[in-house]
Amino acid sequence: MPKVLISDKMDPKAAQIFRERGVEVDEITGKTPEELKAIIGEYDGLAIRSSTRVTREILDAATNLKVVGRAGIGVDNVDIPSASAKGVVVMNTPFGNSITTAEHAIALMFALARDLPEADKSTQAGKWEKNRFMGVEVTGKTLGLIGAGNIGSIVADRALGLRMKVIAYDPFLTPERALEMGVEKMNLDDLLLRADFITLHTPLTDQTRNILSAENLAKTKKGVRIINCARGGLIDEAALKAGLESGHIGGAALDVFQTEPAKEHALFGTPNFISTPHLGASTTEAQVNVAIQVAEQMADFLVSGGVTNA
Ligand code: MLT
Repeated sequence: MPKVLISDKMDPKAAQIFRERGVEVDEITGKTPEELKAIIGEYDGLAIRSSTRVTREILDAATNLKVVGRAGIGVDNVDIPSASAKGVVVMNTPFGNSITTAEHAIALMFALARDLPEADKSTQAGKWEKNRFMGVEVTGKTLGLIGAGNIGSIVADRALGLRMKVIAYDPFLTPERALEMGVEKMNLDDLLLRADFITLHTPLTDQTRNILSAENLAKTKKGVRIINCARGGLIDEAALKAGLESGHIGGAALDVFQTEPAKEHALFGTPNFISTPHLGASTTEAQVNVAIQVAEQMADFLVSGGVTNA
């Protein structure tokens, strides 16, 4: 019987599915890399979220490992070249948390438009500063999507429902798909020039790293509000801070940071800056979805060799 280790906190549905499909499963979370190294040799599969780092050292110790399953989208915490070299298949669940992440981006857009975190803090401090907070409507504004894939296309759909105009930069977006989505495809410079709000929905790759560089941030419209629920490293954080301080950037909401967990950060306390601790995928619904998907895919692979989302 194949044996799987679930090493990050995951919805109980995952373990249930493994057992129903004839896969033995242990749920052992919170292990240090050394502790994980000591036990990983027993397992054919490793199911993770974002906490476990599957490094070359872990893979070297994983003498029986055949598959790593990421309950989520990003596989930045897995050393893919080392896994491939050892013949270990790495799978993710690219769809299970797309709606949830798109909704978080929309939530942050509204939080920026109406300065909700600051207004909440002030009201609960007993200040009733009705004159201090003057927001903007999103209706009629232009939302610039950088990345129009699974998550970006859901953001576009919701934004169109809010009567925004949606423009998109995505080299993989075909004109037909842009038409179908109801968005205007354009190059990055045009998007930077036109967007009132910019939201990022692209993985972190050599092509997208620092896509909102100091130079590109300087090309944005004055007062632009920027949202990142995708990956840290897409934005030059120091340039973002400078832009917020100068007032060129009207607001920024980051769910993701270059270095996580971000327990201290130069951006903390900057005017018009909002942050959340990588909560993009954190809803009950999304966590159930990704747990089910990862367990089904891994069990298929271990029991009958079927490969999905590898
Ligand atoms: C993902 O890659 O699925 C999301 O960023 C969620 C996460 O890492 O928890």
